[in-house]
Amino acid sequence: MAQTQKKFIIVGNWKLNPATGEEAKTLFGAIFKKAQNLARVLVIILPPAPFINILSGKKSDSVLLGAQDVSVETSGSFTGLISASQVASVGAQYALIGHSERRKMGDTDSIVSQKVLQAFTAGMKVIVCIGEKERDEHAHYLRAIREQLVSIFNAISDKKYMKNLVIAYEPIWAIGASYDRAPKPSDVHEMVLYIKKVAIEVLGKEFGLKIKILYGGSVNAENAGTIIREGAVNGLLVGRQSLDAKEFLKIIDHAEHV
Ligand code: PGA
Repeated sequence: MAQTQKKFIIVGNWKLNPATGEEAKTLFGAIFKKAQNLARVLVIILPPAPFINILSGKKSDSVLLGAQDVSVETSGSFTGLISASQVASVGAQYALIGHSERRKMGDTDSIVSQKVLQAFTAGMKVIVCIGEKERDEHAHYLRAIREQLVSIFNAISDKKYMKNLVIAYEPIWAIGASYDRAPKPSDVHEMVLYIKKVAIEVLGKEFGLKIKILYGGSVNAENAGTIIREGAVNGLLVGRQSLDAKEFLKIIDHAEHV
């Protein structure tokens, strides 16, 4: 089945792990073996950039690779940066942009937008993270979500790229937290509706209704199924549990059987 027809997307964000290329191969191999023939789920693994090339030999419509970030620069005298076209050239088909850990290191909405455009221009699909630091009873956090979304949507002037955009809603207070701190599926659903509402307002119905939305933040095998079903998301962005092949495969399995 072509990847565009897949119903759910499960992303594994490995962050600054594992320590060596050998370990990356073992972890990826274990996931790939079980996930290479999925009918309904697209798995996207985001290894540290040096490992993308090592892992890209294994090919399947169900398991793709992506980068955890790309630079705002295309080429030139920028020591230490890695461009979108460079990671694309070694097998990254997706780019994660605007993760809260990158935003904490200085990525503003404007930088996030520039990186999104770099990735699109390099032919990649993009997963942009948005999310509030904390919730308040007056729902001011919705304003922060709206601002992040509007900034991204407005930056994409060429609407042909809209089909390559995925939004990942990751409340910062739930990332890396204890698993019982993940929001209730009904709260996730409410946010999915809000994101769609803003998308329709800014982009119109044609693009707004089609936007794909993932949830991320303390997802594990216990809460994955309910969040997908009751949260009405198109998939999940998984951090810690993507480093444990067995647990990650259980999460994938929930999505495959929703
Ligand atoms: P977590 O991380 O699943 O470990 O909470 C999620 C993320 O940072 O994307």
